[in-house]
Amino acid sequence: LRIAILAGGLSHERDVSLRSGHRVAKVLKHLGHTVLILDVDARMIASLRAFGPDVVWPLVHGSHGEDGGLQNILIALGLPYVGTHSDGCQRSSFKPTAKATVRTGGVLTPDSVTLPKSYFSQLGAQDVLGVVSGHLGFPVIVKPNQGGSGLGVSLVTNADELRQAMVACFAYDERALIESYVPGREIAVSVVDVGDGPRPLPPVEVVTEGQYDFDARYNPGRSEYFVPARLSEAETSLVQDTALRVHRTLGLGNVSRTDLILAEDGTPWFVDVNVVPGMTETSLLPLAAEADGDLPGLYDALVRHPSVH
Ligand code: DAL
Repeated sequence: LRIAILAGGLSHERDVSLRSGHRVAKVLKHLGHTVLILDVDARMIASLRAFGPDVVWPLVHGSHGEDGGLQNILIALGLPYVGTHSDGCQRSSFKPTAKATVRTGGVLTPDSVTLPKSYFSQLGAQDVLGVVSGHLGFPVIVKPNQGGSGLGVSLVTNADELRQAMVACFAYDERALIESYVPGREIAVSVVDVGDGPRPLPPVEVVTEGQYDFDARYNPGRSEYFVPARLSEAETSLVQDTALRVHRTLGLGNVSRTDLILAEDGTPWFVDVNVVPGMTETSLLPLAAEADGDLPGLYDALVRHPSVH
């Protein structure tokens, strides 16, 4: 097949996206496909037309990559692609909407409030503190409303740390999601669909000293990964069923990764979903695909069964 991979873009996750794109391209070329990597810039549409791909695999993370913007362009161009329809992308990339949607679908997700930057800059940290104390209590996680890779995310255990966390968050987004912290094991479950319905891959457990932030994600050695995760059969089924429910409730296409906290009492809590999961050498979906037994076979099946066409 002639496959165009879109990688790069202008979000804070540009470098991660380039790494994802090059790693996937290497696997697909090895399988005999003709692969072209294109950046998301003013030449993209002309380059896509000139190349004439059978299928596109958008691997742009963060804004425009996961919020449906890029997907809308591919739909307008009539190009089949691997991933999720723009509608599901929009629902998933805006974290409060994703949380509300999965909650409607019966999945638990920690309580949260969303605050715009203007609220913080005009009313100040003391007022935000009132909101957090009144609605959630400490500890909380402060994170950008959109975007991934742990950028701008802080665990806040007391009032003194709140201001700094908000400032760090607003470097990445105009709105902050402040979420109750649920202690437990960090589990990621990828879901794939190669034309025969969504199927969960083996869960991956992430163990990090400190927070699973950008540095811990992309510097080999900073995090330890257990794949399959150290879970009983019942726990494995539970987290896989939860990820499947998230995938279906949000109306996702042929790839997703749901990040969960498995609390000490065995309850899975939804914290995030990625419609363009990282595909780098330390990313979680490729680890799960390897554990499943055939990473190249999976990528090959995905490009042969693009979910949007
Ligand atoms: N947002 C990044 C790419 C990930 O979570 O894999």
